[in-house]
Amino acid sequence: MKSTVILPLALLAGCANAWGTLGHQSIALLAQQYLLPGTIESVQTLLNDTTTTYLGNIALWADSFRYTPEGSFSGGYHFVNGHDAPPPESCEIIYPEDCPPEGCVIKAIGNYTERLKDHTLPVDQRQQALKFVVHFIGDISQPLHTEAFGAGANNLTVWFQGYKTNLHAAWDTAIPNAMIGFPPNAKIGNGDSLGWANNLAAAINAGKYKKLVWAWLKDHSLRNLKEEEKAATVWAQESNEEVCDYAMVKGGNAYNGTEIGGAYYEGAKPIVEVSIAKAGIRLAAWLNLIFEGQTGFEVWSIGQPGQGQGKGENKGNNNNKGEGWH
Ligand SMILES: *[C@@H]1O[C@H](CO)[C@@H](O)[C@H](O)[C@H]1NC(C)=O
Ligand SMILES: *[C@@H]1O[C@H](CO)[C@@H](O)[C@H](O)[C@H]1NC(C)=O
Ligand SMILES: *[C@@H]1O[C@H](CO)[C@@H](O)[C@H](O)[C@H]1NC(C)=O
Ligand SMILES: *[C@@H]1O[C@H](CO)[C@@H](O)[C@H](O)[C@H]1NC(C)=O
Ligand SMILES: [Zn+2]
Repeated sequence: MKSTVILPLALLAGCANAWGTLGHQSIALLAQQYLLPGTIESVQTLLNDTTTTYLGNIALWADSFRYTPEGSFSGGYHFVNGHDAPPPESCEIIYPEDCPPEGCVIKAIGNYTERLKDHTLPVDQRQQALKFVVHFIGDISQPLHTEAFGAGANNLTVWFQGYKTNLHAAWDTAIPNAMIGFPPNAKIGNGDSLGWANNLAAAINAGKYKKLVWAWLKDHSLRNLKEEEKAATVWAQESNEEVCDYAMVKGGNAYNGTEIGGAYYEGAKPIVEVSIAKAGIRLAAWLNLIFEGQTGFEVWSIGQPGQGQGKGENKGNNNNKGEGWH
């Protein structure tokens, strides 16, 4: 996805692609808090990083890699263009039809999950696969990363509290930054992101998100590439629905040239928050499945519909089956 807005250089990479620094780091640092001990060991070994922010440190890597000559093949992996009617008329992801030959985020999650599982690959290839998976499970949770209109609303010029940007970039960066009290062009670090991740963890462990965790994970399955792509399609569909329900509910062009830092921002906040929380939990459970064969959230599901019985609304693919995932 492209962006032509003029932004401070340090921000450019983050703004043009996806959640900016804050979003991606927060998702990664939130996920870290739910990794099983064996997963932590495997991941730290693969990354050769035992610092306390080992996943936060690589969360943005894919956004710089895509601009290098060797990484240019991955530019199309950061989003999927839902070929729906212009929102808000209809929002839907149809896979694989919506994924062009150059790839998309759904296919990329499947491919790099398979590669991460594949112990016959060289370590550097598995390390790269891990860095992609961490980043793309973030990207797919950003509603405008699943929207075709205007290349994900990159062509809609907006102002955010007087700062000129576009609707896509505002969801990536200006809105999340404002939620933790920073201006759109602030330089964010792991420390800032960790603060947000900790707040989200509290809301997940004991607060408003606790009851939602089972539903966030109901499509987790690593049985084969098809199942992985199926899960990622569900995640993309959820994000895409937020485009019709809120992000572009007035029709895309209605936002062009408007200031969105007031009422629109207030309505976007809860969507951004739950998207980040959900992506962090999904990432942790996905990595736990890859490295330890279980999501690590099994007990969170007890008593929830479709869980704990070995079958349910996801037709037996629920995360309580400990077999066949490696
Ligand atoms: C791992 O990191 C250490 C210190 O950062 C470095 O000295 C070492 O060469 C690295 N090992 C590999 C295999 O990259
Ligand atoms: C999977 O990833 C590898 C390594 O980046 C790449 O060479 C290959 O083309 C990818 N496959 C698909 C189907 O995207
Ligand atoms: C943005 O792009 C879409 C096509 O995807 C087009 O219909 C729309 O008019 C464009 N809006 C602006 C403001 O350029
Ligand atoms: C979108 O808004 C910008 C900024 O107000 C304006 O320059 C541009 O002409 C608008 N585009 C369309 C297609 O209305
Ligand atoms: Zn990205």
